[in-house]
Amino acid sequence: MIANKETIKEIAFRLNVHSIHLKVLMANSKNISIDNVESEYKKRLEKKPKPFVKWVGGKRQLIQQFRERDLYPPEGFDSKTATYFEPFVGGGAMFFDLLPKKAFLSDMNGELVLSYNVIKNDVDGLIKKLKVHKKNDSKEYFLKVRALDTEKLSDVNIAARFIYLNRTCFNGLYRVNGSGKFNVPYAANKNPLICDEENLRKAHEAMKHTLIRHQDYAKVLEKAKKGDFIYFDPPYYPVSKTASFTSYTKEGFLEKEQEKLRDVFVELSKRGCFVMLSNSNSPFINELYSNLGKKIRIEEVFAGRAINSKGSGRGKVKEVVVKNY
Ligand SMILES: C[S@@+](CC[C@H](N)C(=O)[O-])C[C@H]1O[C@@H](n2cnc3c(N)ncnc32)[C@H](O)[C@@H]1O
Repeated sequence: MIANKETIKEIAFRLNVHSIHLKVLMANSKNISIDNVESEYKKRLEKKPKPFVKWVGGKRQLIQQFRERDLYPPEGFDSKTATYFEPFVGGGAMFFDLLPKKAFLSDMNGELVLSYNVIKNDVDGLIKKLKVHKKNDSKEYFLKVRALDTEKLSDVNIAARFIYLNRTCFNGLYRVNGSGKFNVPYAANKNPLICDEENLRKAHEAMKHTLIRHQDYAKVLEKAKKGDFIYFDPPYYPVSKTASFTSYTKEGFLEKEQEKLRDVFVELSKRGCFVMLSNSNSPFINELYSNLGKKIRIEEVFAGRAINSKGSGRGKVKEVVVKNY
């Protein structure tokens, strides 16, 4: 047993991954053992999708740091029996990295959730539509597609429009005006990746056993059980009055919502779930998650943030990870 454990750790070190990823892989398939786990892991890496949208607050660059610092994934998470929840899924960087057997994803952005479901249920139809957008892409075309009334479109057309606009608009931002219409300008990037067919097919495979819902994060309380792993990546509490981007939805996510989320975190922790949360390194958030018992700890991580109102604010910003394991 001990020899096996050490071997997994050695292989994990060589592959530069946490040993839990190899354990998850072995747990999920009868045909994978310590003898072939390295080659199977490499095959799996080739199948790993990237997020199919650019998303503000996306966690892709942070995951390696989370792993190196043992912040993620929780050692005790048994993906054979337990479920992974990501209730603020956005671009889903963590989900696509962990590739758990059972997952429940959700977000309050309806078009984003619809797009996940179209990738899950009709990836061929979506690819066809995206090829048309790719062929016609120009500023005029973008404006025409942006102006379409989504109420009159089919699901596959809504998803194709959503991904096309995300890939070609300024910084992949998602912003709507007072009447709920997407209003981010065209970015005129050279060769935007409008139809990444290979990646969409990988994402489709990854989502086969995943449920994706348009709902508020607090609904996670209805489903999560002991042993499940929940990763919260909410809209961050602003570090200063000039920090420009905080709201993904009309409702915003300020003090009251952050306090309610803290209560949900504590409730899940009491239930015996593994809970992890990202947020800004602000006094308010540090205070909110302090003195909640020995298990709940706050760690600082560094993130290069692209969205900031002042050029000088670009670069390495500290943020926090709160976890109960
Ligand atoms: C920081 S982003 C998540 C980024 C994601 N982890 C990634 O890697 O792309 C926050 C997400 O929370 C969603 N959101 C905002 N309010 C919400 C709520 N009340 N319930 C669920 N999702 C919400 C936003 O639509 C946005 O996608």
